[in-house]
Amino acid sequence: MERFEEVVSRKGTRSVKWDMAEDLYQDKEVLPMWVADMDFKTPSAVTNAIKERAEHGIFGYTIPDDKVKASITHWLENQHQWKIDPEWITYSPGVIPSLHMIIQSLTEIGDHIIIQTPVYPPFYSVIKDHGRHVVQNPLQLKEEQYEIDFADFEKKIKDHNVSMFILCNPHNPVGRVWKKEELQKMMDICLKHDVKVVSDEIHADLIYHGNVHIPAASLSEKASKQTITCLSPTKTFNLAGLQASYVVIPDGAAKKRIDRHFKNQGMLMLNTLGLTAMEAAYDHGEEWLSQLMHVLETHRDYVTDRFHNETSSIRVLPAEGTYLLWLDCRELKMDQAELKRFMQKEAKVGLNDGASFGEEGEGFMRLNIAAPKSIIEDGVSRIITAVKKREQ
Ligand SMILES: Cc1ncc(COP(=O)(O)O)c(C=O)c1O
Repeated sequence: MERFEEVVSRKGTRSVKWDMAEDLYQDKEVLPMWVADMDFKTPSAVTNAIKERAEHGIFGYTIPDDKVKASITHWLENQHQWKIDPEWITYSPGVIPSLHMIIQSLTEIGDHIIIQTPVYPPFYSVIKDHGRHVVQNPLQLKEEQYEIDFADFEKKIKDHNVSMFILCNPHNPVGRVWKKEELQKMMDICLKHDVKVVSDEIHADLIYHGNVHIPAASLSEKASKQTITCLSPTKTFNLAGLQASYVVIPDGAAKKRIDRHFKNQGMLMLNTLGLTAMEAAYDHGEEWLSQLMHVLETHRDYVTDRFHNETSSIRVLPAEGTYLLWLDCRELKMDQAELKRFMQKEAKVGLNDGASFGEEGEGFMRLNIAAPKSIIEDGVSRIITAVKKREQ
């Protein structure tokens, strides 16, 4: 596990998380715990594959061949018991670009698209940027955990004649890994009203013990045809800068439309090194991933326990997946601007503003635990010390 304890400086590597932090927070001392990437090195099998490819020295036009598709299909079957036809795969530089393409291909200007809020901020912009309307089905925070309001989900779909649903599973930022019954209920409603399901499953491999990720498309034959799944090895193996992802589209007509759209935007191939990394990660990354999950689980429990034991003003909602913890800071009794200021200026930690995920995120902040334990300890101590100082 030592590889996950090594503190590797990312400053000066054009890292959004570390190099942008200074500009953003205007303070060198703020510890960045925001952007969803990890402060861990990718598996050495991936680095070696990239080195070997780099040594070749020629980086001309590259085709994503059947070998990469085989790595993907094998990974999905092995990790998620989801058997797919390699022909269903379309490559994409990222899940966000995919969402833009899918919305433009399968909906019309003026259409309504439903999302479950609070949610990853680009879910709003990928809809609005193309003249479509956002319909919100707010998640309900019950005691300990977020749940889906199915009645509201169906009502909004009917009332707004919704044509598409963008599902986030596992859910960023609330950390839910949707259960089979929950997915089935949502799927039944979508099938009943002919709503296309776009399932963003970028966090699918980051699942804690006691939870199982179920690809929405794997629920049934009908679900498979109704669903377009966005996936990527970039969160799992810390490869976001290499921009390699893919979309699984079992419905032939939808695939044709989406592929045409990718082609019309000139997006015909992937980055050479991104492809190499994706293949190596899926072929050789399983053992590394199981070690990573052990480390993340230790971090999740550590952070939860420390807040639980040392302050009643912040509680950590139980994460079933992802390395992003959703902190309920409402007991601090600050408005959002004050909460943000407090975290930056008093605690000196760079967290994601809960309100950026939607109005339901007010009073919350998001903390990234994918960093060596020493960084996590430092960050949590900073927050708890600042809270105690306030409460004196
Ligand atoms: C739910 C979700 N979707 C998509 C992305 C970004 O995907 P990409 O970097 O492939 O565009 C993120 C990154 O945090 C995410 O959390």
